[in-house]
Amino acid sequence: MTDPAAFALAARGLWKSYRMGAGRLQVLRDVSLALRPGEVCALMGASGSGKSTLLHLLGLLDRPDRGEVLYHGRRAPGSPGARARLRARSLGFVFQQFHLLPELNALENVLMPRRLALGAAWWSRRREERARARALLERVGLGERLRHRPKQLSGGEQQRVALARAVVGRPAVLLADEPTGNLDSRTGEGILELLLELAREHGSAVLLATHDATIAARAGRLLHLRDGCLDGGAEGAPAGEGAAENSVRKTPEPTGDEGGGTGPGAGPEEARS
Ligand SMILES: Nc1ncnc2c1ncn2[C@@H]1O[C@H](COP(=O)(O)OP(=O)(O)O)[C@@H](O)[C@H]1O
Ligand SMILES: [Mg+2]
Repeated sequence: MTDPAAFALAARGLWKSYRMGAGRLQVLRDVSLALRPGEVCALMGASGSGKSTLLHLLGLLDRPDRGEVLYHGRRAPGSPGARARLRARSLGFVFQQFHLLPELNALENVLMPRRLALGAAWWSRRREERARARALLERVGLGERLRHRPKQLSGGEQQRVALARAVVGRPAVLLADEPTGNLDSRTGEGILELLLELAREHGSAVLLATHDATIAARAGRLLHLRDGCLDGGAEGAPAGEGAAENSVRKTPEPTGDEGGGTGPGAGPEEARS
């Protein structure tokens, strides 16, 4: 079996449900996957199939009921501070709704994750960081928009700022949640090109959620979420890859009543961390 550290990102046996009134809505059932450095993978599934839920777990923005997320073969930490540091260091996230900070201009938005990642070192590094962020914004065609706030930018421009922000730390993993979903198709096509180009330059592994087959066709590998289960991961993989790695380990279905299962923060990941 491949050394787990060979994967930029992996998930093993993820389960996730949401409390809904008296019961629970089971969204993910025993989802496992593994992404190699530089691999571009599309996450497909109908609206409501759990794509965003899975990306949020992988991006450490939420916690599974059970199962684990691994970066470079190491289990993601449990404490909020350590999770935030790992996110700042290793991860870029592009949202469908851009999620730029409205009070900050384009340059400041791109720099924000670098400030978080560098901590005290920011003060000695800020000049070069600023130059790099500026170069990146020029690269995405926004050299003349550095001081614009999000509301002064078009949708496509905002997504390009968000893209620059996601890659400015040269992340090992780039997660994109329908990044072209709010854009017209031509603008969306440009954003996608840019995303793949920047990811390639940085050697980032990409997981791109989309329900659009034309977008998914640009990926080297397809994963499909259906009824809470992830399948098809091995089919698009280059020969010799994927089949074994995509189901890293099957975990048995949680015993007892799923409806009364563990809530966020009470899963085994937290218990062990
Ligand atoms: N915080 C939440 N509370 C309750 N249900 C949720 C929550 N977030 C998502 N869901 C439900 O979980 C399912 C999967 O949602 P989501 O992951 O957003 O799907 P997708 O991104 O594939 O459209 C949907 O039925 C959605 O309504
Ligand atoms: Mg979604």
